[in-house]
Amino acid sequence: MDKEMHVDFSKQQFGADFKWGVSTAAFQIEGSDNVDGKGLSIWDVFAARRGKIKKGHQPADACDFYNRFKDDIALVRELNISNFRFSLSWTRLLPEGSGSINYKGVDYYNRVIDFLLECGITPWITIYHWDLPHALELRGGWTNRDIVSWFSDYSEICAINFGDRVINWMVMNEPSVFTGAGYFLGMHAPGKKGLTNYLKAIHHSTLATVAGAQALRAQVHEANIGTTFSCTHIEPINQYQNNVLAAKRVDTLLNRTFIEPILGLGYPHSDLPVLKKIEKHMRPQDEKNMAFDFDFIGIQCYTREIVKSSIFVPYIGARIVKASKRKVPFTAMNWEVYPPSIYQMIKKFNAYKGIKKLLITENGSAFPDVIENGKVNDIDRTTYLQNHIGEVLKAKQEGFNVDGYFVWTLTDNFEWAEGFHPRFGLVYVDFNTQQRIIKQSGLWFKEFLK
Ligand code: GAL
Repeated sequence: MDKEMHVDFSKQQFGADFKWGVSTAAFQIEGSDNVDGKGLSIWDVFAARRGKIKKGHQPADACDFYNRFKDDIALVRELNISNFRFSLSWTRLLPEGSGSINYKGVDYYNRVIDFLLECGITPWITIYHWDLPHALELRGGWTNRDIVSWFSDYSEICAINFGDRVINWMVMNEPSVFTGAGYFLGMHAPGKKGLTNYLKAIHHSTLATVAGAQALRAQVHEANIGTTFSCTHIEPINQYQNNVLAAKRVDTLLNRTFIEPILGLGYPHSDLPVLKKIEKHMRPQDEKNMAFDFDFIGIQCYTREIVKSSIFVPYIGARIVKASKRKVPFTAMNWEVYPPSIYQMIKKFNAYKGIKKLLITENGSAFPDVIENGKVNDIDRTTYLQNHIGEVLKAKQEGFNVDGYFVWTLTDNFEWAEGFHPRFGLVYVDFNTQQRIIKQSGLWFKEFLK
Protein backbone atom coordinates (compact mmCIF):
# COMPACT_ATOMS: atom_id res chain seq x y z
CA MET A 1 0.00 0.00 0.00
CA ASP A 2 1.19 3.52 -0.81
CA LYS A 3 3.04 5.45 1.87
CA GLU A 4 0.42 8.23 2.04
CA MET A 5 -2.21 5.63 2.84
CA HIS A 6 -0.90 5.19 6.38
CA VAL A 7 -2.22 7.05 9.38
CA ASP A 8 -0.63 7.55 12.76
CA PHE A 9 -3.57 6.15 14.71
CA SER A 10 -5.13 2.71 14.93
CA LYS A 11 -8.54 1.17 15.26
CA GLN A 12 -7.59 -0.04 18.75
CA GLN A 13 -7.38 3.54 20.02
CA PHE A 14 -11.15 3.87 19.56
CA GLY A 15 -11.78 0.99 21.97
CA ALA A 16 -13.24 -2.46 21.45
CA ASP A 17 -16.87 -1.28 21.68
CA PHE A 18 -16.60 1.37 18.97
CA LYS A 19 -18.95 0.55 16.05
CA TRP A 20 -17.40 0.67 12.58
CA GLY A 21 -19.91 0.59 9.79
CA VAL A 22 -21.12 1.63 6.40
CA SER A 23 -24.44 3.36 5.62
CA THR A 24 -26.81 3.00 2.67
CA ALA A 25 -30.41 3.89 1.79
CA ALA A 26 -33.03 1.79 -0.02
CA PHE A 27 -33.93 4.20 -2.78
CA GLN A 28 -30.31 4.97 -3.60
CA ILE A 29 -29.22 1.36 -4.08
CA GLU A 30 -32.04 -1.14 -4.52
CA GLY A 31 -33.42 -0.49 -7.99
CA SER A 32 -36.26 -2.92 -8.89
CA ASP A 33 -38.61 -0.03 -8.29
CA ASN A 34 -41.58 -1.84 -9.74
CA VAL A 35 -41.31 -5.54 -8.84
CA ASP A 36 -42.78 -7.97 -6.35
CA GLY A 37 -45.68 -5.72 -5.45
CA LYS A 38 -43.72 -2.58 -4.55
CA GLY A 39 -45.77 0.64 -4.69
CA LEU A 40 -44.59 4.00 -6.01
CA SER A 41 -42.69 6.34 -3.73
CA ILE A 42 -42.46 10.11 -4.06
CA TRP A 43 -38.93 9.66 -5.39
CA ASP A 44 -40.09 7.30 -8.17
CA VAL A 45 -42.63 9.93 -9.21
CA PHE A 46 -40.33 12.95 -8.79
CA ALA A 47 -37.44 11.38 -10.73
CA ALA A 48 -39.76 10.67 -13.66
CA ARG A 49 -40.64 14.37 -13.95
CA ARG A 50 -38.65 16.24 -16.62
CA GLY A 51 -35.74 18.30 -15.37
CA LYS A 52 -35.87 17.17 -11.75
CA ILE A 53 -32.77 14.95 -11.79
CA LYS A 54 -29.48 16.19 -13.26
CA LYS A 55 -28.79 14.93 -16.76
CA GLY A 56 -32.12 13.09 -16.66
CA HIS A 57 -30.57 10.15 -14.79
CA GLN A 58 -33.17 7.56 -13.85
CA PRO A 59 -32.99 5.55 -10.61
CA ALA A 60 -35.05 2.54 -11.78
CA ASP A 61 -32.11 0.10 -11.48
CA ALA A 62 -29.82 2.10 -9.15
CA CYS A 63 -27.07 -0.37 -8.14
CA ASP A 64 -29.41 -3.35 -8.37
CA PHE A 65 -28.86 -4.12 -4.69
CA TYR A 66 -32.30 -5.79 -4.73
CA ASN A 67 -30.84 -8.64 -6.78
CA ARG A 68 -27.20 -8.35 -5.80
CA PHE A 69 -27.47 -7.91 -2.05
CA LYS A 70 -25.57 -11.10 -1.34
CA ASP A 71 -22.61 -9.98 -3.43
CA ASP A 72 -22.63 -6.51 -1.91
CA ILE A 73 -22.92 -7.80 1.64
CA ALA A 74 -20.04 -10.14 0.85
CA LEU A 75 -18.07 -6.99 -0.04
CA VAL A 76 -18.95 -5.48 3.35
CA ARG A 77 -17.54 -8.60 4.96
CA GLU A 78 -14.46 -8.53 2.72
CA LEU A 79 -13.81 -4.92 3.84
CA ASN A 80 -13.86 -6.07 7.51
CA ILE A 81 -16.85 -3.80 8.20
CA SER A 82 -18.95 -5.26 10.99
CA ASN A 83 -22.03 -2.98 10.94
CA PHE A 84 -24.31 -2.37 7.96
CA ARG A 85 -26.89 0.41 7.94
CA PHE A 86 -29.71 0.21 5.39
CA SER A 87 -33.21 1.62 5.14
CA LEU A 88 -36.53 -0.08 4.51
CA SER A 89 -38.55 0.99 1.51
CA TRP A 90 -41.97 1.88 2.92
CA THR A 91 -43.71 1.00 -0.37
CA ARG A 92 -42.12 -2.45 -0.59
CA LEU A 93 -43.75 -3.24 2.74
CA LEU A 94 -46.95 -1.17 2.39
CA PRO A 95 -47.47 -0.37 -1.31
CA GLU A 96 -50.18 2.20 -0.51
CA GLY A 97 -48.40 3.52 2.57
CA SER A 98 -51.05 2.15 4.91
CA GLY A 99 -53.40 -0.80 4.82
CA SER A 100 -52.36 -4.21 3.53
CA ILE A 101 -48.86 -5.57 3.89
CA ASN A 102 -46.92 -6.80 0.86
CA TYR A 103 -45.36 -10.03 2.15
CA LYS A 104 -42.94 -10.24 -0.76
CA GLY A 105 -41.38 -7.06 0.60
CA VAL A 106 -41.21 -8.50 4.10
CA ASP A 107 -39.61 -11.60 2.65
CA TYR A 108 -36.99 -9.56 0.81
CA TYR A 109 -35.86 -7.72 3.94
CA ASN A 110 -35.89 -10.98 5.88
CA ARG A 111 -33.45 -12.38 3.34
CA VAL A 112 -31.20 -9.30 3.63
CA ILE A 113 -31.23 -9.44 7.44
CA ASP A 114 -30.65 -13.19 7.56
CA PHE A 115 -27.75 -12.96 5.16
CA LEU A 116 -26.14 -10.13 7.14
CA LEU A 117 -26.37 -12.21 10.29
CA GLU A 118 -25.00 -15.25 8.48
CA CYS A 119 -22.00 -13.11 7.47
CA GLY A 120 -21.47 -11.96 11.05
CA ILE A 121 -22.49 -8.39 10.19
CA THR A 122 -24.80 -6.46 12.53
CA PRO A 123 -27.84 -4.91 10.80
CA TRP A 124 -28.82 -1.29 11.57
CA ILE A 125 -32.20 -0.33 10.14
CA THR A 126 -33.37 3.16 9.19
CA ILE A 127 -37.15 3.19 9.04
CA TYR A 128 -37.45 6.31 6.89
CA HIS A 129 -34.83 7.49 4.40
CA TRP A 130 -36.97 9.88 2.34
CA ASP A 131 -38.98 7.53 0.06
CA LEU A 132 -42.49 8.38 1.22
CA PRO A 133 -45.32 6.40 -0.40
CA HIS A 134 -46.77 8.40 -3.29
CA ALA A 135 -50.28 7.37 -2.18
CA LEU A 136 -49.68 9.23 1.09
CA GLU A 137 -48.28 12.26 -0.71
CA LEU A 138 -51.54 12.43 -2.64
CA ARG A 139 -53.15 12.95 0.78
CA GLY A 140 -50.70 15.73 1.68
CA GLY A 141 -47.63 13.72 2.71
CA TRP A 142 -45.65 15.38 5.48
CA THR A 143 -48.00 18.37 5.47
CA ASN A 144 -50.93 16.21 6.63
CA ARG A 145 -51.01 15.59 10.36
CA ASP A 146 -52.38 12.10 9.76
CA ILE A 147 -48.85 11.15 8.76
CA VAL A 148 -48.03 10.76 12.44
CA SER A 149 -50.33 7.75 12.72
CA TRP A 150 -49.46 6.43 9.23
CA PHE A 151 -45.81 6.51 10.25
CA SER A 152 -46.43 5.00 13.65
CA ASP A 153 -48.35 2.08 12.08
CA TYR A 154 -45.59 1.55 9.52
CA SER A 155 -42.92 1.61 12.26
CA GLU A 156 -44.89 -0.94 14.24
CA ILE A 157 -45.04 -3.25 11.22
CA CYS A 158 -41.26 -2.94 10.78
CA ALA A 159 -40.69 -3.68 14.45
CA ILE A 160 -43.03 -6.70 14.48
CA ASN A 161 -41.53 -8.25 11.36
CA PHE A 162 -37.82 -7.61 11.91
CA GLY A 163 -37.42 -6.84 15.61
CA ASP A 164 -36.78 -10.48 16.47
CA ARG A 165 -33.37 -10.23 14.75
CA VAL A 166 -32.60 -6.51 14.56
CA ILE A 167 -31.65 -4.63 17.71
CA ASN A 168 -30.29 -1.39 16.24
CA TRP A 169 -32.83 1.04 14.80
CA MET A 170 -32.85 4.58 13.47
CA VAL A 171 -36.26 6.15 13.06
CA MET A 172 -35.55 8.99 10.62
CA ASN A 173 -32.82 10.09 8.29
CA GLU A 174 -32.09 13.83 8.34
CA PRO A 175 -35.54 15.43 8.71
CA SER A 176 -34.00 18.86 8.03
CA VAL A 177 -33.10 17.75 4.51
CA PHE A 178 -36.31 16.00 3.49
CA THR A 179 -38.46 18.81 4.85
CA GLY A 180 -36.24 21.67 3.63
CA ALA A 181 -35.38 20.34 0.18
CA GLY A 182 -38.71 18.51 -0.33
CA TYR A 183 -41.31 20.88 1.14
CA PHE A 184 -39.69 24.34 1.14
CA LEU A 185 -37.25 24.57 -1.76
CA GLY A 186 -38.90 21.98 -4.00
CA MET A 187 -35.52 20.56 -5.05
CA HIS A 188 -36.20 17.09 -3.70
CA ALA A 189 -39.31 14.93 -3.81
CA PRO A 190 -42.16 15.70 -3.65
CA GLY A 191 -41.08 19.11 -5.01
CA LYS A 192 -43.35 21.21 -2.80
CA LYS A 193 -42.49 24.79 -1.88
CA GLY A 194 -43.44 27.45 0.60
CA LEU A 195 -43.25 28.30 4.27
CA THR A 196 -46.56 26.75 5.35
CA ASN A 197 -45.72 23.38 3.79
CA TYR A 198 -42.29 23.52 5.38
CA LEU A 199 -43.42 24.40 8.90
CA LYS A 200 -46.09 21.70 8.87
CA ALA A 201 -43.57 19.16 7.56
CA ILE A 202 -41.11 20.12 10.32
CA HIS A 203 -43.68 19.68 13.05
CA HIS A 204 -45.20 16.47 11.71
CA SER A 205 -41.78 14.90 11.19
CA THR A 206 -40.89 15.72 14.80
CA LEU A 207 -44.10 14.12 16.08
CA ALA A 208 -43.62 11.14 13.77
CA THR A 209 -40.05 10.59 14.94
CA VAL A 210 -41.33 10.22 18.49
CA ALA A 211 -44.35 8.12 17.49
CA GLY A 212 -42.08 5.79 15.48
CA ALA A 213 -39.64 5.46 18.37
CA GLN A 214 -42.49 4.66 20.77
CA ALA A 215 -43.76 1.94 18.44
CA LEU A 216 -40.28 0.40 18.35
CA ARG A 217 -39.93 0.61 22.12
CA ALA A 218 -43.26 -1.16 22.60
CA GLN A 219 -42.45 -4.00 20.21
CA VAL A 220 -38.71 -4.62 20.49
CA HIS A 221 -37.74 -4.88 24.12
CA GLU A 222 -34.00 -5.04 23.65
CA ALA A 223 -33.96 -2.32 20.97
CA ASN A 224 -31.16 0.23 20.72
CA ILE A 225 -33.18 3.13 19.33
CA GLY A 226 -31.75 6.20 17.65
CA THR A 227 -32.56 8.71 14.99
CA THR A 228 -30.28 10.73 12.72
CA PHE A 229 -29.71 14.42 12.05
CA SER A 230 -27.59 16.22 9.53
CA CYS A 231 -25.29 18.84 11.03
CA THR A 232 -22.70 21.26 9.73
CA HIS A 233 -20.25 23.57 11.44
CA ILE A 234 -21.34 27.12 10.61
CA GLU A 235 -19.11 30.20 10.61
CA PRO A 236 -19.78 33.81 9.63
CA ILE A 237 -17.73 35.15 6.74
CA ASN A 238 -16.27 37.78 9.08
CA GLN A 239 -16.96 39.18 12.51
CA TYR A 240 -19.31 42.00 11.45
CA GLN A 241 -22.37 41.77 13.64
CA ASN A 242 -24.86 41.26 10.80
CA ASN A 243 -22.87 38.25 9.55
CA VAL A 244 -22.41 36.82 13.03
CA LEU A 245 -26.17 37.02 13.61
CA ALA A 246 -26.87 35.53 10.17
CA ALA A 247 -24.59 32.59 11.01
CA LYS A 248 -26.45 32.09 14.27
CA ARG A 249 -29.79 31.88 12.42
CA VAL A 250 -28.41 29.34 9.93
CA ASP A 251 -26.90 27.31 12.77
CA THR A 252 -30.28 27.34 14.51
CA LEU A 253 -32.10 26.12 11.42
CA LEU A 254 -29.62 23.47 10.32
CA ASN A 255 -28.29 22.19 13.63
CA ARG A 256 -30.89 22.86 16.32
CA THR A 257 -34.45 22.95 14.96
CA PHE A 258 -34.88 19.18 14.80
CA ILE A 259 -32.87 17.87 17.76
CA GLU A 260 -34.03 20.37 20.39
CA PRO A 261 -37.74 19.47 20.46
CA ILE A 262 -36.75 15.79 20.63
CA LEU A 263 -34.75 16.60 23.77
CA GLY A 264 -37.73 18.36 25.31
CA LEU A 265 -36.37 21.85 24.64
CA GLY A 266 -39.02 22.91 22.11
CA TYR A 267 -38.32 24.67 18.81
CA PRO A 268 -35.50 27.24 19.13
CA HIS A 269 -37.61 30.20 17.98
CA SER A 270 -35.86 32.76 20.15
CA ASP A 271 -32.87 32.46 17.80
CA LEU A 272 -34.95 32.03 14.64
CA PRO A 273 -38.26 33.92 14.99
CA VAL A 274 -39.96 32.34 11.95
CA LEU A 275 -40.17 29.05 13.87
CA LYS A 276 -42.71 30.70 16.16
CA LYS A 277 -45.21 30.22 13.35
CA ILE A 278 -45.08 26.44 13.99
CA GLU A 279 -47.27 27.09 17.02
CA LYS A 280 -50.23 27.55 14.68
CA HIS A 281 -49.92 23.87 13.76
CA MET A 282 -49.53 22.63 17.32
CA ARG A 283 -52.15 21.01 19.53
CA PRO A 284 -52.27 20.97 23.34
CA GLN A 285 -50.55 17.60 23.88
CA ASP A 286 -47.87 18.16 21.25
CA GLU A 287 -45.13 19.54 23.49
CA LYS A 288 -45.13 16.25 25.39
CA ASN A 289 -45.28 14.13 22.23
CA MET A 290 -42.27 15.85 20.66
CA ALA A 291 -39.71 14.37 23.03
CA PHE A 292 -38.28 10.86 23.35
CA ASP A 293 -35.47 9.36 25.37
CA PHE A 294 -33.35 7.99 22.52
CA ASP A 295 -30.59 5.48 23.27
CA PHE A 296 -28.38 7.23 20.76
CA ILE A 297 -28.39 10.11 18.31
CA GLY A 298 -26.80 9.69 14.90
CA ILE A 299 -25.11 12.75 13.46
CA GLN A 300 -24.19 13.07 9.81
CA CYS A 301 -21.58 15.63 8.94
CA TYR A 302 -19.89 16.25 5.61
CA THR A 303 -18.65 19.83 5.46
CA ARG A 304 -18.58 23.34 6.93
CA GLU A 305 -20.65 26.30 5.71
CA ILE A 306 -19.63 29.96 5.63
CA VAL A 307 -22.51 32.39 6.00
CA LYS A 308 -23.15 35.98 4.99
CA SER A 309 -26.12 38.13 5.92
CA SER A 310 -28.52 38.83 3.05
CA ILE A 311 -31.67 40.91 3.00
CA PHE A 312 -32.83 39.09 -0.13
CA VAL A 313 -33.35 35.69 1.50
CA PRO A 314 -36.70 35.64 3.30
CA TYR A 315 -37.16 34.31 6.86
CA ILE A 316 -33.49 33.58 7.43
CA GLY A 317 -31.79 36.72 6.12
CA ALA A 318 -28.65 34.80 5.29
CA ARG A 319 -26.95 33.02 2.44
CA ILE A 320 -24.25 30.42 2.13
CA VAL A 321 -20.99 31.30 0.37
CA LYS A 322 -20.21 28.34 -1.87
CA ALA A 323 -16.95 26.52 -1.35
CA SER A 324 -15.96 26.99 -5.00
CA LYS A 325 -15.98 30.77 -4.39
CA ARG A 326 -13.72 30.56 -1.36
CA LYS A 327 -10.37 29.13 -2.57
CA VAL A 328 -10.73 26.01 -0.42
CA PRO A 329 -10.62 22.32 -1.40
CA PHE A 330 -14.09 20.99 -2.25
CA THR A 331 -15.77 17.78 -3.39
CA ALA A 332 -17.93 16.91 -6.41
CA MET A 333 -20.91 18.20 -4.39
CA ASN A 334 -19.21 21.61 -4.09
CA TRP A 335 -18.85 20.93 -0.36
CA GLU A 336 -15.73 22.21 1.36
CA VAL A 337 -13.35 19.55 2.68
CA TYR A 338 -13.01 20.65 6.29
CA PRO A 339 -12.37 17.76 8.72
CA PRO A 340 -12.54 19.85 11.96
CA SER A 341 -16.28 20.29 11.27
CA ILE A 342 -16.97 16.76 12.50
CA TYR A 343 -15.02 17.42 15.72
CA GLN A 344 -16.99 20.64 16.27
CA MET A 345 -20.29 18.82 15.77
CA ILE A 346 -19.40 16.05 18.22
CA LYS A 347 -18.55 18.75 20.73
CA LYS A 348 -21.76 20.72 20.02
CA PHE A 349 -24.07 17.71 20.36
CA ASN A 350 -22.21 16.49 23.47
CA ALA A 351 -23.18 19.74 25.15
CA TYR A 352 -26.84 18.63 25.20
CA LYS A 353 -27.45 16.89 28.52
CA GLY A 354 -30.26 14.78 27.07
CA ILE A 355 -28.09 12.92 24.54
CA LYS A 356 -26.88 9.62 25.96
CA LYS A 357 -24.65 8.55 23.13
CA LEU A 358 -23.56 9.88 19.75
CA LEU A 359 -22.72 7.92 16.65
CA ILE A 360 -21.44 9.30 13.38
CA THR A 361 -24.00 7.59 11.16
CA GLU A 362 -22.75 9.18 7.91
CA ASN A 363 -19.56 10.83 6.71
CA GLY A 364 -17.95 10.57 3.30
CA SER A 365 -17.16 12.37 0.07
CA ALA A 366 -17.79 12.37 -3.66
CA PHE A 367 -14.93 12.83 -6.10
CA PRO A 368 -14.70 12.18 -9.85
CA ASP A 369 -13.14 8.71 -9.75
CA VAL A 370 -11.25 7.28 -12.70
CA ILE A 371 -10.42 3.68 -13.47
CA GLU A 372 -6.78 3.08 -14.43
CA ASN A 373 -5.57 -0.44 -15.13
CA GLY A 374 -8.68 -1.80 -13.46
CA LYS A 375 -8.08 0.21 -10.26
CA VAL A 376 -9.56 3.34 -8.72
CA ASN A 377 -6.83 5.20 -6.89
CA ASP A 378 -9.04 7.66 -5.00
CA ILE A 379 -6.43 9.44 -2.91
CA ASP A 380 -8.74 12.39 -2.16
CA ARG A 381 -11.45 10.21 -0.65
CA THR A 382 -8.92 8.14 1.29
CA THR A 383 -7.37 11.29 2.76
CA TYR A 384 -10.84 12.69 3.50
CA LEU A 385 -11.80 9.58 5.47
CA GLN A 386 -8.49 9.42 7.30
CA ASN A 387 -8.65 13.04 8.37
CA HIS A 388 -12.28 12.83 9.48
CA ILE A 389 -11.68 9.62 11.43
CA GLY A 390 -8.68 11.38 12.99
CA GLU A 391 -10.97 14.20 14.16
CA VAL A 392 -13.40 11.68 15.65
CA LEU A 393 -10.51 10.13 17.57
CA LYS A 394 -9.42 13.56 18.80
CA ALA A 395 -12.95 14.18 20.12
CA LYS A 396 -13.05 10.76 21.75
CA GLN A 397 -9.67 11.25 23.40
CA GLU A 398 -10.85 14.58 24.79
CA GLY A 399 -13.63 12.68 26.52
CA PHE A 400 -16.56 13.41 24.20
CA ASN A 401 -19.07 10.63 23.96
CA VAL A 402 -18.91 9.18 20.44
CA ASP A 403 -19.44 5.51 19.94
CA GLY A 404 -19.30 4.73 16.24
CA TYR A 405 -18.43 5.82 12.74
CA PHE A 406 -20.29 4.77 9.58
CA VAL A 407 -18.91 5.70 6.15
CA TRP A 408 -21.31 7.05 3.56
CA THR A 409 -21.35 4.76 1.55
CA LEU A 410 -20.67 1.21 0.37
CA THR A 411 -21.11 1.52 -3.39
CA ASP A 412 -21.52 4.50 -5.70
CA ASN A 413 -25.25 5.06 -5.96
CA PHE A 414 -28.15 7.34 -6.92
CA GLU A 415 -27.41 10.67 -5.27
CA TRP A 416 -30.97 12.07 -5.25
CA ALA A 417 -31.46 15.14 -7.49
CA GLU A 418 -27.77 14.93 -8.48
CA GLY A 419 -28.31 11.58 -10.19
CA PHE A 420 -25.45 9.09 -10.55
CA HIS A 421 -22.76 11.69 -11.06
CA PRO A 422 -21.42 12.20 -7.50
CA ARG A 423 -19.66 8.98 -6.52
CA PHE A 424 -19.54 8.46 -2.75
CA GLY A 425 -18.73 4.73 -2.59
CA LEU A 426 -15.84 2.77 -1.12
CA VAL A 427 -16.68 0.55 -4.08
CA TYR A 428 -16.90 1.83 -7.65
CA VAL A 429 -19.94 0.86 -9.72
CA ASP A 430 -20.07 0.80 -13.50
CA PHE A 431 -23.76 1.65 -13.92
CA ASN A 432 -23.90 0.06 -17.39
CA THR A 433 -22.61 -3.35 -16.38
CA GLN A 434 -23.13 -3.20 -12.58
CA GLN A 435 -19.51 -4.28 -12.20
CA ARG A 436 -17.95 -3.42 -8.81
CA ILE A 437 -14.33 -2.41 -8.12
CA ILE A 438 -13.13 -1.81 -4.56
CA LYS A 439 -11.51 1.62 -4.56
CA GLN A 440 -8.22 2.45 -2.85
CA SER A 441 -10.27 4.09 -0.05
CA GLY A 442 -12.10 0.78 0.49
CA LEU A 443 -8.79 -1.10 0.58
CA TRP A 444 -7.41 1.40 3.08
CA PHE A 445 -10.52 1.09 5.30
CA LYS A 446 -10.26 -2.70 5.12
CA GLU A 447 -6.62 -2.59 6.22
CA PHE A 448 -7.45 -0.10 8.99
CA LEU A 449 -10.25 -2.33 10.32
CA LYS A 450 -8.25 -5.54 10.14
C1 GAL B 1 -27.05 12.54 3.29
C2 GAL B 1 -28.11 11.53 2.96
C3 GAL B 1 -27.64 10.41 2.09
C4 GAL B 1 -26.62 10.80 1.06
C5 GAL B 1 -25.57 11.74 1.62
C6 GAL B 1 -24.60 12.33 0.59
O1 GAL B 1 -27.65 13.76 3.52
O2 GAL B 1 -28.63 10.96 4.13
O3 GAL B 1 -28.75 9.78 1.54
O4 GAL B 1 -27.21 11.25 -0.08
O5 GAL B 1 -26.16 12.82 2.28
O6 GAL B 1 -25.12 13.41 -0.04
